[in-house]
Amino acid sequence: MKLLAPGSEIDGFVLHECLHSGGMAHIYRVGYANAQADMQRSFPMVMKIPRMTLQDGAENIVSFEVELGILPRLSGSHVPRFVAAGDLLRLPYLVMEYVPGQTLQHWLEQHPVEARDAATIARMGSVMAIAAHNIHQQNVCHLDIKPANMLLRPDGSVVLLDFGLSCHAHYPDLLAEEMRKAVGSPTWMAPEQVVGVRGDLRSDIFALGVVLYEMATGELPFGAPVTSGGLRQRLWMTPAPLRQHRPDLPEWLQEVILRCLEPEAAQRYPTAAHLALDLSNPDQVVTGERGRRLRGPGFKTHFKRWIKAAGMHYQPSPLPAQQIEQVPIVMVAIPHEDVSDATLYSLREAVARSLGIRPGARLACVSVISPASSSNASHEHSETMAHRKHRARLRQWAAGLDLSNHSASFHVLEASDVAQALIRYAEANRVGMMILGAATHGLQLQRFIDTIPIRVARDAPCTVILVKQQLPFSALGTTQATASSPIEE
Ligand SMILES: Nc1ncnc2c1ncn2[C@@H]1O[C@H](COP(=O)(O)OP(=O)(O)OP(=O)(O)O)[C@@H](O)[C@H]1O
Ligand SMILES: [Mg+2]
Repeated sequence: MKLLAPGSEIDGFVLHECLHSGGMAHIYRVGYANAQADMQRSFPMVMKIPRMTLQDGAENIVSFEVELGILPRLSGSHVPRFVAAGDLLRLPYLVMEYVPGQTLQHWLEQHPVEARDAATIARMGSVMAIAAHNIHQQNVCHLDIKPANMLLRPDGSVVLLDFGLSCHAHYPDLLAEEMRKAVGSPTWMAPEQVVGVRGDLRSDIFALGVVLYEMATGELPFGAPVTSGGLRQRLWMTPAPLRQHRPDLPEWLQEVILRCLEPEAAQRYPTAAHLALDLSNPDQVVTGERGRRLRGPGFKTHFKRWIKAAGMHYQPSPLPAQQIEQVPIVMVAIPHEDVSDATLYSLREAVARSLGIRPGARLACVSVISPASSSNASHEHSETMAHRKHRARLRQWAAGLDLSNHSASFHVLEASDVAQALIRYAEANRVGMMILGAATHGLQLQRFIDTIPIRVARDAPCTVILVKQQLPFSALGTTQATASSPIEE
């Protein structure tokens, strides 16, 4: 399709300049042709028109149909708002919100690799992971995450674009029906996509791993394969360690990125929220051999994996939202003042019960302490001391838990409004379940004012479990005085 002239009208929209002219589609800025409607519109818009000449393959129009099916069903700040669509047979187009900013591809071109430090990569990676998690919660796998399909808004947030290869768990997958071959962009495609599995959210985590690898090293972990043999390599291959390209990168960052790039989906982060949490808490990443290695696995390992991959059958993927529920980020709020042994014990029991049935779930232990007084002369010094002390206390509390199937991290937040701090933390880190003490001794009080547990239960964006304090049966006789039994009525 040739370029349309500015001023052309389509179904009540007037076209302005062409923003992008790619192999698959043209993107134009548009407004309403009706001047009054245009004055009233609250955000700028673009129109995407697929290329549809004879030389353009059928994939073009199928993937456009896929995007038309998925974008209107997505909401939130991590996708452009859908406005309108043209009739597919007459004149296919898609009108959506214009998102100001630049693509990550543009950003990569502007920032030389030496200037991209670990903190920047981690910060940007965490925002991208949160964007991916957001669409996963809406049961959509993007399946084409790459720098050209991510827009960075001026405020640093990320918007995902281009849902032409995506898959919605509740709607027919046109691409799986139409194409019997691998669907995706070869450089970023996950191994399971190579063998035709669609709809696993961990495929997006793999693609994020490829993006982060390129951000950190300037290299592509699997090159840009053009043959199917080249593509299949990633079924068994571990890419060169990042620190081989850039020895100054920290081990934790290599650990995180190589985990995203594990050939078997089950070895990667189970959800993008888990990835975001690690990227925003580097000091809590447990670095193993994967993070420390300076050379890739040898021929023997790869050969063994190659044999295994030849007979590999991928399991059907769980639905994205279900997968997130199975391996939630479980947050526990541990008080640090006026806290009885019974409360600490009951919280630990409740956490053990919640984690026990959810292998892979991640535990975040959080304490909120009051802000350090600014009048303190050695303010900065004392602040880190206090944090260290409270973190050590959290670790000690968790020492009694069986964490063999879980990773855990420890966070000390400073805030005067405890409930608000807990709710904000849960929101920012996509916590799936929060466990906190029910403060039963305050029941009388709760009739008159909102206590912390009541506010959290009401306003937190996740399941909240309020735990009443209870000591083990064996200890009941001995500690009666401190562990008053909970008031039930
Ligand atoms: N809503 C939008 N707001 C701002 N820019 C956009 C928007 N949608 C698309 N763009 C710009 O257009 C480019 C291409 O968009 P998109 O990825 O949706 O098309 P495509 O199907 O990949 O097309 P092609 O393969 O031809 O590049 C994006 O990289 C971005 O620069
Ligand atoms: Mg694109």
